[in-house]
Formats: sequence, structure tokens, C-alpha cells
Amino acid sequence: MQTILTGIRSNSILTLGNYLGALLPMVRLANKHSKDSNINIFVPDLHSIISEVDGDLKENTIRTLKYYIAAGLEINDNVHIYRQSYVPAHSELCWILNCVATMGETSRMIQYKEKSKGSDSCNVGIFDYPILMAADILLYDATYIPLGEDQFQHIELTRNIATRFNNKFGGIFTIPAKTLDQVKFMGQEEGVRIRDLQNPEKKMSKSTLAENSKIMLDDEPEKAMKKIMSATTDSEGKIKFDMFNQPGISNLLQIEALVNDRPLQDVIGEWAGETHYGDLKKKVASSVFNMLTDFQRKMAEIKDEEVLSLLEKGEKYANETANAKLLEVQKAFHLR
Ligand code: TYM
Repeated sequence: MQTILTGIRSNSILTLGNYLGALLPMVRLANKHSKDSNINIFVPDLHSIISEVDGDLKENTIRTLKYYIAAGLEINDNVHIYRQSYVPAHSELCWILNCVATMGETSRMIQYKEKSKGSDSCNVGIFDYPILMAADILLYDATYIPLGEDQFQHIELTRNIATRFNNKFGGIFTIPAKTLDQVKFMGQEEGVRIRDLQNPEKKMSKSTLAENSKIMLDDEPEKAMKKIMSATTDSEGKIKFDMFNQPGISNLLQIEALVNDRPLQDVIGEWAGETHYGDLKKKVASSVFNMLTDFQRKMAEIKDEEVLSLLEKGEKYANETANAKLLEVQKAFHLR
């Protein structure tokens, strides 16, 4: 059975970017494929501690898992929910893969360059982050890993490490699908990168200080509407999808498509030739308002106990599956 796997760190409340780039695609794929695929949804809590955590990590983790349920995740026996730090095989395999990956390929990771800002005083976890991510994926033989575009480079690194390992030791790991195939599997034309509303050249990020730049999943829907209405656009005067010259308008079209689960091309076609940016903003603001209202109502209904009982089952499955794979790797290195 193929495995579809994803994780979202729970350092703080998530943004609309996390939601549309990773969480919602995962929920849609899970609901479509969970009859014949393993659906692994985990919280990479060890990845969280490379940087500051707002609030209590344990509680944030439960909240992040509730997000999936509020976004419509249907649970059945093939859906597995777990916390990374409750499955020690992740850290163990990370160490072993550290001895397979090279300094050169790991140093080339854009996220490492951005997060370390070239400073030697950044913690080693920031550097090692993609290797732990590779372990998260390879332990479960995952083929598809729904992620936003900023993470694709880490998938390519995972593929390279797994291929090198398999060439030496035989086909122990399943090689995850290529980025292009990942995008196709998600039903997208290209990777999703939701932009900062005020500065659309950049991605929407939880760490951006300017409040109007990002929509948080706990924003009052009214407030989120106002943020969309004040989004930066351009002076071209025509509604067109062109991320290079019109990133603000293109971002709004992208949000409109994803929130309503419509093909991007349909939304682009519907607005082609229109010139009133205000009309597009009103439409997107109302879509986001409806989405957040519904999402927040569902969040309020989900009890911690529901998540905790899923975790108990999921962590049993995760430990069994991951330990079996780890043992194969340990044997390959004559550790066992
Ligand atoms: P994290 O928490 O940094 O990001 C979570 C997910 O949100 C996506 N994302 C976005 N997508 C579109 N537009 C945006 N503005 C935007 N901002 C964030 C990210 O691409 C990501 O998919 N390293 C992973 C966590 C992880 C993981 C794994 C994922 C650890 N191990 C194994 C999959 C498999 C991450 O980026 O988390």
C-alpha cells in the first residue's frame, strides 16, 4: 500500500499559507486515497525546537492536529496520526543518514541559508533539519509528501540520500516521487507559495512581524477580510495571473482558487479582462471570511480527548512501522 505523509511544525498558530500550501492539500488527498493508502500525518515537534516556540509545544501540537480534523480530515484505520518525538526511530535514523548525506548537499539548502543568515552561531539543528526530515519520510516508505513549494528542495535531497543509500545497500528505502510528480499528484499545476499580503514578492510567513502581511487561522474573519482588502497590488490595471509582474493580484487569484477548491485556470479565466482590483479583493475577502468562519466553528467543537485517542493508536502503528525499517538499516550497517 502506498504511503502519503506530511508534517507541519506547531511553533505557533498556523497561517493561511500553511493551510492552503500543505494542510488542505493533505486533507483532500487523504480523503481521496485513504481507502487504499496509508495516510501519515505527524507533528515534527523535534523540528520545532530549532527556533522559538510561541506558547507550550505540547498544547500547540494538539491544536495543529485539530486543524486537520477541522479542515475535514475523515478518519479511518489507514489514517495514522503521531508526534515525531514519540517515535525515537526518527532521531536514530537521522543520525545514520547524517553519515550518508554530505556537507556540500546539505549546505546548499536554501532554508538553511535563510535561517542561519550565514552566521556560524546558528544551532546545528538548523543545518541538520532536512536530514531529520528525510528520516521522517524514509522510515515509512512514503511516496507522496504534500508540501508547499518552499520545501521541494528538501524532497529532492531526500531522494538523493535514499538513492545513494539504496545503491550501496540494496532497495531498503522507497524513493519518494519527483517534485513534478508530487505537484501533479496534488492536482496542482505548480507548487503553491502563498505570498505576503503587503510584500507579495515574499512568501506569507508566521515569522513576519507586520500583522497585515499574514492571515492567521485564528484571525477574526472580519479582520482577515480587512487584511485582504488592504493587500498590495500593482498599477497594471488588469487582472492577470503573472507571479513575476503582478504577484499581489496573482496571489489573490491563487487564494481564491484554493479556498474554493477550484482549478486555478478556471479562476484565472473567470477574471481575465477584468480591471477592477477592488471587485477581486471583495470576492477573495468573502471567500476567506466564509472559510475561516466555518473552520473556527469546527475547531471549537473538537475535544482534546479525540486527538489524544488518535495519537495513542497512531503512535503504536508509527513505532512498529518505523522500528521495522530502522532495523533493516541497522543491519545494513552491521549495527545489528
Ligand atoms: P513548516 O511548519 O515550516 O511548514 C509547514 C508547511 O506549510 C507550507 N507553507 C506554505 N505553503 C504555501 N505558502 C506559504 N506561504 C507557506 N508557508 C508554509 C510548507 O511548505 C510546509 O509544507 N519541514 C516541514 C516539516 C516537516 C515535514 C517532514 C514535512 C518535517 N518533517 C516530513 C513533510 C515530511 C516544514 O516546512 O514545516
